[in-house]
Amino acid sequence: ALAAALEGQLQLREVLGIPLQASTVDNWSQIQNFEAKPDDLLICTYPKSGTTWIQEIVDMIEQNGDVEKCQRAIIQHRHPFIVWARPPQPSGVEKAKAMPSPRILRTHLPTQLLPPSFWENNCKFLYVARNAKDCMVSYYHFQRMNQILPDPGTWEEYFETFISGKVGWGSWFDHVKGWWEINRYQILFLFYEDIKRDSKHEIQKVMQFMGKDLDETVLDKIVQETSFEKMKENPMTNRSTVPKSILDQSISPFMRKGLCGFKYYTFILSSNILSAS
Ligand code: A3P
Repeated sequence: ALAAALEGQLQLREVLGIPLQASTVDNWSQIQNFEAKPDDLLICTYPKSGTTWIQEIVDMIEQNGDVEKCQRAIIQHRHPFIVWARPPQPSGVEKAKAMPSPRILRTHLPTQLLPPSFWENNCKFLYVARNAKDCMVSYYHFQRMNQILPDPGTWEEYFETFISGKVGWGSWFDHVKGWWEINRYQILFLFYEDIKRDSKHEIQKVMQFMGKDLDETVLDKIVQETSFEKMKENPMTNRSTVPKSILDQSISPFMRKGLCGFKYYTFILSSNILSAS
């Protein structure tokens, strides 16, 4: 029975053609009926695009650069992941409901699957996009170490799986394009590569978007505290508290490289020119 249950978890099931974790699909009506509030800020990303990074940046801004306050909980618990459903733990929706406003929430949903109340309440959206190649490599290693996601197979096999959008949360291309085309709403669209290149400038944009005003010295501190090196060592951000039965970091660390490996923006995607490093 355990094996069957586990097998069920490893399966992705589709909603409107988008593969999602089975437990999320089981909880779908609760997620779709989620009641957003006008002062919600929603962090949106395709997986492996720097979600944890932007969450830490947002939290540091929210806490006015107070490192201790950011240590209050692991990053996964600071901003409810509204699609999270893994009974008997409280679901992301339940956690969001219990959170005082103004709320900062997180999702990987493509625009067409977003609970409608986010649009109706004209919430703020903070989207981070990362180039497809680095996303794919990061996702491949993540699926190798994540014991509750399907095994990615070989790099060559995964390449096809990723390109055809048969991965959790669907096609990278459709996801990024969908969010890029949102313009009637309050959206700040950032790129992982820009945050890497000029963190301070991008962090300043996030600060303004959040309606905050912080001193230069606080901004410099946030740049330092949210560096890859610091976050890799920080147990509140590096996922080291997640049991090995879920994330096996001996296979591949959650904070793997944190680099822009894709220097040349080419749209010629060929498995011959791209490698899994
Ligand atoms: P790599 O696997 O390329 O190292 P997500 O949080 O969306 O799952 O994304 C994880 C990716 O973001 C990983 O990429 C991880 O190393 C990277 N990352 C996390 N924190 C980072 C930081 N402070 N600076 C740069 N990259 C970071």
